[in-house]
Amino acid sequence: MRAFFPANYIANLTTNWIPALDGVDSKLRAGAKVADVGCGHGASTILMAQAFPKSRFFGFDYHPASIERAREKAQASGVSDRVIFEVAPAKSYPGSDYDFVAFFDCLHDMGDPAGGAAHVRESLAPDGTWMVVEPFANDDVSANLNPVGRIYYSASRLFCVPASLSQEVGLGLGAQAGEARLRNIITSGGFTRFRRAAETPFNLVLEARP
Ligand SMILES: C[S@@+](CC[C@H](N)C(=O)[O-])C[C@H]1O[C@@H](n2cnc3c(N)ncnc32)[C@H](O)[C@@H]1O
Repeated sequence: MRAFFPANYIANLTTNWIPALDGVDSKLRAGAKVADVGCGHGASTILMAQAFPKSRFFGFDYHPASIERAREKAQASGVSDRVIFEVAPAKSYPGSDYDFVAFFDCLHDMGDPAGGAAHVRESLAPDGTWMVVEPFANDDVSANLNPVGRIYYSASRLFCVPASLSQEVGLGLGAQAGEARLRNIITSGGFTRFRRAAETPFNLVLEARP
């Protein structure tokens, strides 16, 4: 995953996706408190820390070996002064009053994404923003039977669905959930504002606010 996803983040995250969110770019430039949940090896966390040196970043993942790797990469990238990586699941990561919480290609991997959504809501500042980046998918299976959808369904069957089924609740959303199902899960956590802020052929970028 560390080899597969970050090319897309380098191409889009700080130039297209964050600027598409309401007011987030300026908050990050001024200095904001950020959580990157399900951060894996921390590629997205480190990219944001490089682009927004006045902000503080907390990367969380439930997989200890990934967090070890993320710490090494932060050290090598010279951003350890503003990035902390900790082992923590999405439903109980520490901290409060985050200005910005980001999930990159991981909500659908979680056993209980609705539980994660509720925890994000609790941990956000009242005017905070949750960005959910998910693999691009339409709501109908038939509309996903294209080269990108076929790759995602195949990978999902091998990685994402088993990962989710191995956890509590075990929803098994899969990488091709589509915006309608994602919206239901995200708003079930208590978010009242939801929109598709951006998209690429490979990603949906969803914005949720309290
Ligand atoms: C497809 S990888 C994406 C990693 C990273 N966000 C990226 O884009 O490179 C999914 C990540 O979600 C993490 N994950 C799965 N379930 C989780 C949970 N319940 N709490 C925290 N992290 C979780 C996995 O350990 C993995 O690092």
